[in-house]
Parts: sequence; C-alpha cells; structure tokens
Amino acid sequence: MKKEFLDLGRQPIANKFLKEDEVSDEFFFDLKVVFDEDTKLVSMKDFVKPELMFNEDYKYNTSLSTPMVNHFKETAEMLKMKFKPRKVLEIGSNDGPFISNFDKDSSICVEPCDNFAKVTADMGYKTRTEFWTTELSEKILKQNGYMDLIYSANCVCHIQDLDDAFKAVKNLLTPGGVFVFEDPSLLRMLERGSYDQIYDEHAHVFSVTALNNILKRNGLRIFSVDNLSVHGGSNRIYACHVDSCTVGDSVRENLKEEKEFGVDNFETYEIFAKRVEESKDELVRCLKNLKDDGKKIISIGATSKSTTVFNYCGIDSSLIDCITDTTPDKQNLLAPGSHIPVVDRESVNLNDYDYAFLGAWNFKDVIANKESGFVKKGGQFITHVPKIMMFS
Ligand code: TMP
Repeated sequence: MKKEFLDLGRQPIANKFLKEDEVSDEFFFDLKVVFDEDTKLVSMKDFVKPELMFNEDYKYNTSLSTPMVNHFKETAEMLKMKFKPRKVLEIGSNDGPFISNFDKDSSICVEPCDNFAKVTADMGYKTRTEFWTTELSEKILKQNGYMDLIYSANCVCHIQDLDDAFKAVKNLLTPGGVFVFEDPSLLRMLERGSYDQIYDEHAHVFSVTALNNILKRNGLRIFSVDNLSVHGGSNRIYACHVDSCTVGDSVRENLKEEKEFGVDNFETYEIFAKRVEESKDELVRCLKNLKDDGKKIISIGATSKSTTVFNYCGIDSSLIDCITDTTPDKQNLLAPGSHIPVVDRESVNLNDYDYAFLGAWNFKDVIANKESGFVKKGGQFITHVPKIMMFS
C-alpha cells in the first residue's frame, strides 16, 4: 500500500526554461510523494508523462559539467579494470561523457532526447532514440546480442515502471554480466533534508532497501554498493543475475545503515515532511528579512533542485533578482515556475549582490572556490542544506 507523506505543491517541468511568450501556457502538476509499505520505495504519487520532460528541449548537457565529465571518466576506467566488458550498453547516455570512454564498435547508447542522441550518433556510437523498455531490449538482443555491462547514471530513477526496466536489463545481460547504475540516495536526502531531490524527472528516490526488493522480484541481485558524493550523495549499485554472484559486505552494511535510520518505517517520512515544511518557512523568512534590509540576492545554478525549492517556497524575482548558470541553453530564459531570469555568469558582477543562494548546493565547494572574490568583498552564500545557513 502506498502512503502519502509530502506535498511539494504545484510544480512545473523542472528543466523547461521559458521564453516570455511561453509563460502563459506553462504546464504545472501537483508534486506529492508516497512511500510504498510493501517494497519500501519512495516515489511521486502521480507521474508526469515522460514525453513532456525527455524531448529535444531537454537542457541538461552532462558534458558541460567538468566535475561530472571527470566522474564518468573515472567510473568508466574503474569498470573496465574490474569487469573487462566486451559489449557495453548505456541507458540514458545524454551527450556521451560515459560511453565516449568505450569502443564505438561494441557499445550502444539508449537516449530518448533527440538532441543528445544526435551527439552520440555523430560521434559514431549506435544510438537508439527511445525510452528503455523490455520491448526495446528484445529488439537490441536480436540485432546486437547480449551485453556484458549495462550502465546507467541518473536515469533509472526517472523510469516510472521499474519492473519493466529491470526485466529489460535481465533480458539483455550476459550470464556473467553486470548491471551498474547510480542515482541519488534516499538515505542522504533524508539525513540532509534535501527535499529538492524530488522533481518531475525523479519518479523515485532510491534506497538500497527498496532496490534490493524490486531487483530481486525481477531475477537480479545486488552484489555491491558504492556510496558516492555526486549529486549531493548517490549510490552506485552493482547487480547481476540472481544466481551468478554473491552478496558482498557493502550491501549488508548499506542495508543495516538504512534500517537503523528507519527507511523502512513510515514515521521516518512523517518526520522528514515536518522538517521540509520548517525549511520552507525559514528560507522564506530569511530571504524576506534580507530584502527588507535592502540587500540584493542572486542565485547560482539554475538546477532542477532549485525549481523544486523556488516553486514549493513561492520564491520569485521579488526575492531573487536572477540566477546565473553556465549552461548556454538555460541562459536568457526564465526559470521554470518562478520565472526568475537566468543569465550567463559572465554577464553579471557578483559583487553587485550581497547574498548568493546556492541552487547548485551539491557543487558548494567548487562554487565557493570559483567565487572567492565575492566572499573577499563581503558577499555571503545562502544554502538550505542541511539547514538554512549563511556562510562565507
Ligand atoms: P546539477 O546540480 O543538476 O548537476 O546541475 C548543475 C547546474 O548548475 C548546471 O546547470 C550547471 C550549473 N552550475 C553553475 O552555473 N555554476 C557552477 O559553478 C556549477 C558547478 C554548476
């Protein structure tokens, strides 16, 4: 049975940046979050149609983020060393920062966003511009045979029908093959109060506990887990056919840690929901007080996470003047829902502002280093994770 514990209000498509004339037609949906008592999975109550989010307008170019490009290069090297895969398939290959570390002739990309699929196709990789389904896995199996490594980053949590997605993996994985996927960690979200991990694309936020239950019923077994710092705390899950590997200590340790925190208990989510409400009240109070004192506030990183925060808290350009973002496709457009203007970092002088809200709080250290000049001139950062704080 699914039980609702959190209502994040009316939310837009988190990556749909708007022109002025698109504002009146903007799509909104109710973002409510549920806990499944049976599988222990945390999901959105009502999913958004995938075609509304993952299309040629999708704005998240992974290759523009140097930390993420480095992360995928290191991950690819590690997987090559450990598993020596001959044939590799990536689910949600974006613009190719992971797959580009593998041989073009023995790798396949699956990516429903046309703009990104075109990038990997132009690089010479076989690319299927489709959503990941059992139907697609059967087609690939017929044409290309079994895969030794199926990899996916920040994509499996987008897939609404997990049973179908995992069946598709099972279909296509060689008997000794590995399925490796990484997504934001539910435990880290609960610990840090980072409710902004929840937005339209994140149909689910995964615990190892829930994945263990759902993979098992689809004939797959988790044999290892890496805890990563990317995206504010993620888990990399290693899975195989149920009878072809043994469960390692990292799995037992993660399950134990999650059990101790109470991820299998609905009360934990009720406590989390209260914390989220308090965070909202405090953030709005903090920004309003600063504005009343005549301070100027900017935000850094027009992230999906900040879409959730600004829309849940009702923050608009009366509180935050503009958002800087390094992604050209987001610049000179309006942020989803809040309609705060998004500008190129180079076009603003940060020293014209007193405070900078960290929309990309997961890159706090990178940003603080880059913007040390702002701090030297007396500027302060504001973050809501793990609590509302100002720091320099
Ligand atoms: P993410 O948190 O979903 O990875 O998105 C990061 C966004 O923040 C992306 O649009 C790029 C932007 N960004 C900046 O504008 N400045 C920065 O210094 C960093 C690290 C990211």
